[in-house]
Amino acid sequence: MSLAQWFKTSFPVDNEALVEMSSEPIPNHLKKWWWALGGTPLYMFVVQVITGLLLVFYYQPDVNGAYDSISRITNELPYGWLIRSIHKWSANIMIASVILHMMRVFFTQTYRKPRELNWMFGVTLFLLTLIFGFSGYSLIFEQMSYWAMKVGTEIAGATPIIGDWLATFIKGGEDLGQHTLTRMHIFHVMILPLAMVALIGLHVYLIRTLGVSDLHFKNEPKTEKKTFPFWPDHATTELVMVALIMFVLITLALLFPVHMGERANPNVTPIHIKPEWYFYPVFRWLKLTNLFWGVMGPMIFIAILYLWPFIDRFFEKIAPGKDLSFWIGILGTLIMIVFFLWEILGH
Ligand code: HEM
Ligand code: HEM
Repeated sequence: MSLAQWFKTSFPVDNEALVEMSSEPIPNHLKKWWWALGGTPLYMFVVQVITGLLLVFYYQPDVNGAYDSISRITNELPYGWLIRSIHKWSANIMIASVILHMMRVFFTQTYRKPRELNWMFGVTLFLLTLIFGFSGYSLIFEQMSYWAMKVGTEIAGATPIIGDWLATFIKGGEDLGQHTLTRMHIFHVMILPLAMVALIGLHVYLIRTLGVSDLHFKNEPKTEKKTFPFWPDHATTELVMVALIMFVLITLALLFPVHMGERANPNVTPIHIKPEWYFYPVFRWLKLTNLFWGVMGPMIFIAILYLWPFIDRFFEKIAPGKDLSFWIGILGTLIMIVFFLWEILGH
């Protein structure tokens, strides 16, 4: 018996079923990167898992050793600075591409029937990505990340009804300390990756079974349905995109490597506390309001995001063809950009 035959009998796989499952026809517009943006966070997640696992070999999740272990990764271990820089830049590209993918889906209104549930899975993926960023940043245990964690847990504590429980759950007690770091670590390297893999699985399963929406552009006749095969056409385009994104990622990591900030000091509040860029709009909102509205605002925003496919259906009923969703989306985006720039330029 040849090795190939032995393998086939020991590991029976239905090749035809696999080819059938993966050769879904792809609508023509997905030839352009900005229509197929969902692939980018997927590659970035793979990069994060690989670089993250390398970092875990040396990272020490304890309040006295965390900062020093990261300093060792950055300054002493061969290519440690590069792995860390790639992890950091890939996190940023992942978050940016999730936001852009969400906007593409929103503005092309492809969350509509029958994709409402997949949109909701998407919103959960968006939140998981943000929590990944927050927990990863907390692990460094430098001044800025420590105080960002402090503000973050205070906001969680202001949540109505469950606030106290939530803050204690995140902190692992009354104060920010060893238990908090242990929890952030377990979340970052264990719970979130498992949750992310499960949800991406559900998201892609639904994309496969429902198909990607067939968009029609103004100059195209509605009856014409143009598609191209997944193998090898779409797979090749995706591979070229992976190569290009990897090039951008490595260039960013080489030109702008990560640095060490000041060591965390719970007794000295920095003059200007700044979270990571993706929390700027929320942070500006918090400064403009108070703790109660600081937490209620983002919660209402997230609830609206989850329910958007149904809100949109209501708008279509009361004002058919007026594209209310589109204009509300433009307004929402502009407000986010203003808050974002305000936070960059102001104190
Ligand atoms: C880790 C995060 C995510 C990954 C890896 C991912 C992956 C993908 C992929 C590969 C597609 C196929 C078409 C395309 O590339 O646009 C897609 C479609 C879709 N995604 Fe995501 N996605 C993520 C996050 C999100 C978010 C945040 C939302 C919305 C809140 C969302 C909602 C959707 C919807 C509704 C579709 C179907 C679009 C259509 O049929 O045109 N996804 N996603
Ligand atoms: C299995 C998956 C992952 C593992 C094992 C992992 C592991 C780690 C470790 C050990 C650190 C601390 C060392 C350091 O700061 O360089 C870290 C930091 C970080 N991680 Fe991850 N990570 C994973 C996935 C992700 C994902 C998906 C994101 C996406 C947002 C992310 C974002 C971050 C960020 C922003 C930091 C702080 C980076 C810095 O400023 O140096 N991680 N991660």
